[in-house]
Amino acid sequence: MRKYIKLIAPATSANLGPGFDVLAIALQEPCDIVEVEYWDKNEFEISLNVSGNYEVPKDLNKNVLSLLLFKISEKYNLKGKLNISLIKNIPVGMGLGSSAASCVSAVLIAKNIFNINLSLNEMIYIAGEGESFIAGSPHYDNVTACLMGGFVITPIDNLDPVSIMPDKELCLCIVLPKIQLPIKKTEYARKILPQSISLKQMSDNISKSCRIVYSFLTHNYKFLRESMKDYVVEIHRSKMIPGFEEVRNVAYEKGAIGVCISGAGPSILAIIDKRNSNPHVILNAMINAFNKNEVYAEGLITHVSEGAKVLERVEK
Ligand code: HSE
Repeated sequence: MRKYIKLIAPATSANLGPGFDVLAIALQEPCDIVEVEYWDKNEFEISLNVSGNYEVPKDLNKNVLSLLLFKISEKYNLKGKLNISLIKNIPVGMGLGSSAASCVSAVLIAKNIFNINLSLNEMIYIAGEGESFIAGSPHYDNVTACLMGGFVITPIDNLDPVSIMPDKELCLCIVLPKIQLPIKKTEYARKILPQSISLKQMSDNISKSCRIVYSFLTHNYKFLRESMKDYVVEIHRSKMIPGFEEVRNVAYEKGAIGVCISGAGPSILAIIDKRNSNPHVILNAMINAFNKNEVYAEGLITHVSEGAKVLERVEK
């Protein structure tokens, strides 16, 4: 039997300040596109072709998509030959969920080509485990947003994930600074974090995270700015990003309603209410603030997206 699927997996921005490993949002752009051809075979075999705007390993034992597929094939005893064409449009190592998109793609291939019966939570947990190839430890925020779309709260224990599709008038500015980053950036950006925090810090972050959820549910953004300030994680990571404070300040001066480091960085996410502010003005101001700090930066304006999905499917 022959099968073909084409799928799309969006970029994501995790944490939103205080919601480390819990909150995330899916972006309409950029997105990875993955095409897969399948033939019956008595063993499991993958060939991988990588193209697109960003480089990822072509080696099957280093590419996160193929690595996770091998892992899934062992667990579910999969057989067949897969020709995978990955168009990598999500910048790699910039805090925009590039590896999460590949992990989610692997899970969608397993589900849609091999018809493995996976619940949403199972898909999230398998994809999140795949993140450990890159980050050194599993985390589920980017993969939850990538799979479900919208603004998400990750699953925990036996609690299901939650996705809210925010206000259509919100748009997102993403600024990508070109800076020298440590090798294995996400792993490093997780290792520099404190392993324990005070009860006060914990309750502060719970309070702020609840207010962020309130903002997206009610479309009342009065708490968002103060709530997206994080003194547990972002304060340590911001040291890796020259000009972070100025970029954030200028985004607020020009009317952003929330600004934070996107995931493990170094990209910066600014949330804008189009009814009150011009995203182009905010984006340019943020890029200029990086330039003043001698950092070249690029940016894009996007919106909140739906989750990853299969776009085409053929079975012969
Ligand atoms: N929540 C994760 C982190 C996202 O901040 O380390 C990284 O992909």
